[in-house]
Amino acid sequence: MSDTNVSASPSRRRFLATASGLVAAGVASPVLAQDAKIDAKALPPNVADWSKALGEGVVAHPYGSPSKFEKHVIRRDVEWLTASRESSVSFTPLHELDGIITPNGLCFERHHSGVAEVAPQDYRLMIHGLVERPMIFTFDDLKRFPRVNRIYFLECAANSGMEWRGAQLNGCQYTHGMVHCVEYTGVPLKVLLAESGIKPSAKWVLAEGADAAAMTRSIPLSKILDDCLVAYRMNGEMLRPENGYPARLVVPGWEGNMWVKWLRRLKLGDEPWETREETSKYTDLLADGKARKHTFVMDAKSIITSPSPQAPIKGKGFTVISGLAWSGRGKVKRVDVSVDGGRNWREATIDGLVLDKACVRFYAQTQWNGEPWLLQSRVIDETGYVQPSKDDLRKIRGVNSIYHNNGIQTYAVKPDGEVENVEVS
Ligand code: MTE
Ligand code: CO
Repeated sequence: MSDTNVSASPSRRRFLATASGLVAAGVASPVLAQDAKIDAKALPPNVADWSKALGEGVVAHPYGSPSKFEKHVIRRDVEWLTASRESSVSFTPLHELDGIITPNGLCFERHHSGVAEVAPQDYRLMIHGLVERPMIFTFDDLKRFPRVNRIYFLECAANSGMEWRGAQLNGCQYTHGMVHCVEYTGVPLKVLLAESGIKPSAKWVLAEGADAAAMTRSIPLSKILDDCLVAYRMNGEMLRPENGYPARLVVPGWEGNMWVKWLRRLKLGDEPWETREETSKYTDLLADGKARKHTFVMDAKSIITSPSPQAPIKGKGFTVISGLAWSGRGKVKRVDVSVDGGRNWREATIDGLVLDKACVRFYAQTQWNGEPWLLQSRVIDETGYVQPSKDDLRKIRGVNSIYHNNGIQTYAVKPDGEVENVEVS
C-alpha cells in the first residue's frame, strides 16, 4: 500500500486544492458538498446575512438540538426488518459520527415490546433468590450508593445478522449500526449485592425487565460481580426512555440482549433459567443442526464508517479512511486496513481513548485517485484474537446463524467515489 501513503510532514502537506483557487476558476470547492445549494452572496469577500443581524437569544431552545443543517443525521430503520413498531430496531448512523462516543439521541434502539414508561418514583429494583436478605431498592436508594463512570460499547448480538448468506443491506448504518458506545454512570452490582449478601450456592443471576416483554436473561454471578453495573445515566444525563430509563443493566462486552432495560428484578440461583432469550433466541444454529448456546461475549469487530455506501468519496486526492473497532474480550490492540480486498494490510492509527470493552476510533490517511478499491478493516484485540473473514466464519458456523457475525466487511469503491457493500472470497 506504499502508493497510498502520505509521506510529507503535516506542515508541508496540502490536503485539498485551495478553495480560493477553485472559486476563482468558477468551480465549487470539494469541501462544500454538492448536495446543498450554495448562496453566492454569503461567500467571501461578501459579508453573509448571518453576520449582519442578531441571532436567537439564550434559552431559545431549553433543551438544545443539532443544527437544522444536520437533519439527515438520524436513527433509521429498515421496513422489511420491522415486524411491528413495538418489536423492532433502529440503527445508529455510524457514517455520520466521529470519535468514540455515540450521542444519546442517535443510539440505536432495540425493543421487544416497545418503550416502557416507568416513573422514577414508582421504580423498584428487587434483589432476591439465593441472597441473605431479599431487598427492594427505590430509585433514590440507587442514587445514594457509591457510583462509577465507565465507557462501554453495547452491540446487539444480531448486528450484521442479515449478512450471513451474503451482502444484503447497503450502508454501515444498516449492516453495523446496532452498536453504540456511551459513558454510563451507575452502581457496581457487587456493591448492591454486598447489601443483600450472597448465599454460597448462588452461581447465576436472572435479570428481568419491567417492559411488557419482561425480558429475562441468566448471567453468571462471576460476571455480575466482575464489572456489571446498574446504570442510570448515559453521557452525563439520565438514561433516555428508549435505553431503559430510569435504570438498566450494563454487561460490558457481552451480548446487547443481556443489558436488560427498565431493570426490575435480579434473582440469584444455582443454575441458568433457560428462558426464551437464551434458548430459542440468542443461540446459534450450526450447519450440523446443533446450536451454540451461552455465547455471551461479543468477539472483536471493526467497520469502516467513511468512506462507506452512505458516505461516498467526494473528491480525488487526500482521503481519510475512518472507522470503529471494539472487542468484548478487552482492549483493542491494533486495526489494519486494506484497499485490495485483504491481500495487503497496513496498520491504521488509533486516535483517542483505548479502553476496556469500548470502541476505538481508527484512521488511515491515503490518496485515492479514482482507482477501484476493495476496502476492508480488521481488528486484533489484546488477547491476540484476529477478526475473521466472512468465509472463515462461515466455515465454522455455517450460514444458519443470525447472531455473532463479526466477519470482515468489504466495500467496493467505484471510480466515481460511490461505495457498495460487497463480498470477496
Ligand atoms: N431490555 C428489555 N427490558 N427489553 C428489551 O426489549 N432489548 C435488548 C436489550 N435490553 C431489550 C432489553 C436488546 S436485544 C438489545 S440489543 C439492547 O437492549 C439494546 O439496547 P438499546 O436499545 O439501549 O440500544
Ligand atoms: Co439485541
